[in-house]
Amino acid sequence: MTVGELEAKLNEILRIGDFQDFTFNGLNVGNREAEVRGILTAVDYDVMLADVARRENANVIVVHHGLWWGKPYTLTGVSYKLFSSLFDSGINLLAYHLPLDAHPEIGNNAYIAKLLGVDVESLGDDMNIGLVSTMELGLDEVVSRLERKFYVRDVWPFSANGRVGIISGAGGGVSPEKLAASGVRIFITGEVSYPQWLAFKRAGVSLILLGHYQSETGGPILLAKWIEENLGIPAMFVDVFDDAM
Ligand SMILES: [Fe+2]
Repeated sequence: MTVGELEAKLNEILRIGDFQDFTFNGLNVGNREAEVRGILTAVDYDVMLADVARRENANVIVVHHGLWWGKPYTLTGVSYKLFSSLFDSGINLLAYHLPLDAHPEIGNNAYIAKLLGVDVESLGDDMNIGLVSTMELGLDEVVSRLERKFYVRDVWPFSANGRVGIISGAGGGVSPEKLAASGVRIFITGEVSYPQWLAFKRAGVSLILLGHYQSETGGPILLAKWIEENLGIPAMFVDVFDDAM
């Protein structure tokens, strides 16, 4: 399989056309004609991944956060080091942002929902990536189920039980009042700002914070498994930062 064929397959299963994203989904850096030897998945690209790729004989890395956000920038300083490590190692870098948050089977939010072990439906957030449990759960039970796989960073107990909303990463931009109106009293995300925290407190919706990075490890973990099982290419998730915020 070529890099271009892999990209077309991932673009299709992750339904990249369904999202209004603010970064590139698909091949960010690389050569579509190259043959895929092996694949690593990760939340973010880091130069250490080039070493792991060499060791594992992988020439493709699929990350959740690509290298372009907002304004264009020069390839100097830290950016120069990041990009030259890709070029020097012949690595093809693909990125899937919102599509990998949202995927109902192998997405970041689906991974968290599976841990809770409850049926979920779409949360109806603006980015169209969130999930919400169809049934109510107690806060303590939710935390203990999350602790099977995650280090739970912070719990702000503003309500004891209710439906559970999930948005991985920086999900605090949703309206907690809107959530509360649909019975959501517990919200799981990666990180929130202080004004967002205050809005949750005032609306009486409990916050469970997993850390941005950690809350987005589930998609890359499930994607590596999916690639091995469905494409027959060796694939491995690499936990780049075990101490990320
Ligand atoms: Fe993120």
